[in-house]
Amino acid sequence: MQQKWRWRTLGVLRRLLSCAIGSIGILALLFAHVRLFPSSQVPNLPDSYKLPMQQEIGLGGERNWMVEVAPPHLSRSPPPPHKLDGASGNLDLDKLWKQPQKQDFVPCVEPSSTYKSTGETRGYLLVHTNGGLNQMRAGICDMVAVAHILNATLVVPELDKRSFWQDTSNFSDVFDEDHFITSLANDVKVIRKLPKELATATRAVKHFRSWSGVDYYQDEIASLWEDYQVIRAAKSDSRLANNNLPPDIQKLRCRACYEALRFSPRIEAMGKLLVDRMRFYGPYIALHLRYEKDMLAFSGCTHDLSPEEADDLKLIRENTVYWKVKEIDSMEQRAKGYCPLTPKEVGIFLAALGFPSKTPIYIAAGEIYGGDSHMAELQSRYPLLMNKEKLASAEELGPFINHSSQMAALDYIVSVESDIFIPSKALVHLFDKVEQGALKEGRKLSTQVIELHKRRQGSPRKRKGPISGTRGTDRFRSEEAFYVNPLPDCLCHKASFTLNTSVMIQ
Ligand SMILES: *[C@@H]1O[C@H](CO)[C@@H](O)[C@H](O)[C@H]1NC(C)=O
Ligand SMILES: *[C@@H]1O[C@H](CO)[C@@H](O)[C@H](O)[C@H]1NC(C)=O
Ligand SMILES: *[C@@H]1O[C@H](CO)[C@@H](O)[C@H](O)[C@H]1NC(C)=O
Ligand SMILES: *[C@@H]1O[C@H](CO)[C@@H](O)[C@H](O)[C@H]1NC(C)=O
Repeated sequence: MQQKWRWRTLGVLRRLLSCAIGSIGILALLFAHVRLFPSSQVPNLPDSYKLPMQQEIGLGGERNWMVEVAPPHLSRSPPPPHKLDGASGNLDLDKLWKQPQKQDFVPCVEPSSTYKSTGETRGYLLVHTNGGLNQMRAGICDMVAVAHILNATLVVPELDKRSFWQDTSNFSDVFDEDHFITSLANDVKVIRKLPKELATATRAVKHFRSWSGVDYYQDEIASLWEDYQVIRAAKSDSRLANNNLPPDIQKLRCRACYEALRFSPRIEAMGKLLVDRMRFYGPYIALHLRYEKDMLAFSGCTHDLSPEEADDLKLIRENTVYWKVKEIDSMEQRAKGYCPLTPKEVGIFLAALGFPSKTPIYIAAGEIYGGDSHMAELQSRYPLLMNKEKLASAEELGPFINHSSQMAALDYIVSVESDIFIPSKALVHLFDKVEQGALKEGRKLSTQVIELHKRRQGSPRKRKGPISGTRGTDRFRSEEAFYVNPLPDCLCHKASFTLNTSVMIQ
């Protein structure tokens, strides 16, 4: 069984490693994926999640209940790419879907022989997470490691209910709480709730220092145990350094994020349904189109928007108390590459890479700002543009629709399963040339875009350290985040890492 799991892991890992374009969250996605759909644990779906015989599949925005299709199966190895016609130029389509270079990496997250589970605990750690789904995920995993360092019993973290997209979801609505607790049994004691007798005990409420190392927790924070039985972390984002932590702590973070923390069964089931329906169209691209109201308001990116829209966004920024920067020069932001690509730019980009107009695309995003008016251009280039709302009925999405973190979790699952994942990236100067008429779409643009992306195809590489010359907080901020790319900590070369199944955790 262990062996089997291992090999499945390897297969999945290899496929994902090599399929992904871009880097954001790719490695994080890998591991999550491994535990998302282990075949032995596919949950029993309630009827409402089963594929109807007459499958509803939205085509180009309209619902079409008439098409009867055989239920597509979630295949581990993707079907061979469709021979799509209408390819631009003479680009080889097979090459587009080909996996980037693999380097035989395998997960290596087992603890060393000297690693000890938290023994006698000294007190309780309460955690208030902050941010969107990914930020909360990373924060939760860090706090597992912090609890271990502090010899604390971890109380299941509270999710952020105040962020821009207010969401009342509790931990167990988004994550599999039982699995989280049992799977960390050898690392940290996790309980659902603070014991009753401590409910009114005085707590040490702390904003842990950002990007701290083990010493900070062992010395400064652990000394609080002398006076308090309960420590409450008021924030969870970036409280632990990315680098220079003991290997066993780094591996524990990976076990927490990629093994212990998985989505609740109802989210996994719905995610799988969406993947099945997306797969019906063949291999697909998942596009993380971050062209959402909060992102645009926060970043001050107003390129291509009307003056009214720009004002609308500015107002949101001014009224959102916890966003510190209020005055933003949109042109400057864009020139620096800090803006998400507009849907139109994404269309130009994909076409330049050579993707024909029949390519199925899944939009992983919340509500696109301005809705159809801003999507029209991309939609006309790529009619098979899908999202949750087009793939599932209002009834099916009902339980999730008012919970932004659950909706984000569904996108996460469809993105992990995609054949190509594209986080939007800056290609701004090329698009500006196109807009000004200095560069025409076609072979020349195509060559430049392909050249730009040659080395950005998601192949494994060592995590980047701080940018040289930066100091203090900026130095940490400039580092590549641990979970974005846990290499070398949690991925090892197969050649130098012999599988030893007897060291498996559990
Ligand atoms: C946690 O427990 C271990 C082993 O019992 C001990 O060596 C370590 O100093 C403790 N750390 C803290 C912060 O209490
Ligand atoms: C979350 O938990 C609290 C406290 O147990 C409860 O009152 C609330 O209804 C829960 N929220 C949801 C969305 O279930
Ligand atoms: C979602 O929230 C909106 C606004 O509060 C409400 O009108 C709608 O009925 C809710 N939908 C579901 C499925 O709960
Ligand atoms: C596997 O790990 C166990 C426990 O650490 C050790 O005793 C054994 O020798 C290892 N086997 C190999 C083949 O390395």
